[in-house]
Amino acid sequence: MQIIVCETPDEGADLVTREILRRLESKPDLVLGLATGSTPIGVYERLVRLHREKGVDFSRVRTFNLDEYIGLSAEHPQSYRFFMRRHLFDALNIPAANIHFPPTEGPELQRKCREYDEKIQAVGGIDIQILGIGSNGHIGFNEPTSSLRSGTRVKTLTEKTLRDNSRFYSSGETQPHLATTMGIGTILGAKRILLQAFGEKKADAIRAIVEGPISAFWPGSVLQLHPETTLFLVRASATRLEMLEYYVRTHHYHRELEE
Ligand code: PGA
Repeated sequence: MQIIVCETPDEGADLVTREILRRLESKPDLVLGLATGSTPIGVYERLVRLHREKGVDFSRVRTFNLDEYIGLSAEHPQSYRFFMRRHLFDALNIPAANIHFPPTEGPELQRKCREYDEKIQAVGGIDIQILGIGSNGHIGFNEPTSSLRSGTRVKTLTEKTLRDNSRFYSSGETQPHLATTMGIGTILGAKRILLQAFGEKKADAIRAIVEGPISAFWPGSVLQLHPETTLFLVRASATRLEMLEYYVRTHHYHRELEE
């Protein structure tokens, strides 16, 4: 894991966006794995700006979202399909046929979940996976105790996740308890993983996934097995790291070598 401690979330979003742009220039049909939640919004704002102001073309890009709630229609303001349209897709020129979400409806959901993973394989795998992390260490909706080699499937959300996300629901509004998520095995299949974590609420999870043992109890810890993962943190989310000073120094030397 490479760890970059940024001054601000904006700096993290700038660095992630820069890498996406660089990859897009060499591979116009880039395959992106996308996340929802508050963390990736800065990156999406920047991608929209690049398209509007610099004419960056997304017409050949393929996208696969990490997760989606079961029981919410695509028009529901809390659905992740709605979120992605609002923050990214409505403003970019990605053809609708290139945009994919995990299946959440109909019979044979299990088979459709398998097909989601097969579709990712069929386009050659995910080039860049954008990730956030839950305060309980989940990636996607792979909650604690998820199988570390799981494929896309339905998961039950933990109380902690429901509480963390309850801020998006008005009182009386029903919050879904189930979601379909890319599996941990699916996520590990991505060629490059860029994980952003901002705010002190993430500090325990960051400590556990970076310096703790690989454990299904902290699903993000499996990223220790992925050779091309970078974590973009801010000081507040890095406070519990025992070797923080080492990571900062390492990044400093890497930058010097690149210059
Ligand atoms: P957040 O969610 O970006 O809203 O903090 C991250 C997650 O739960 O994976």
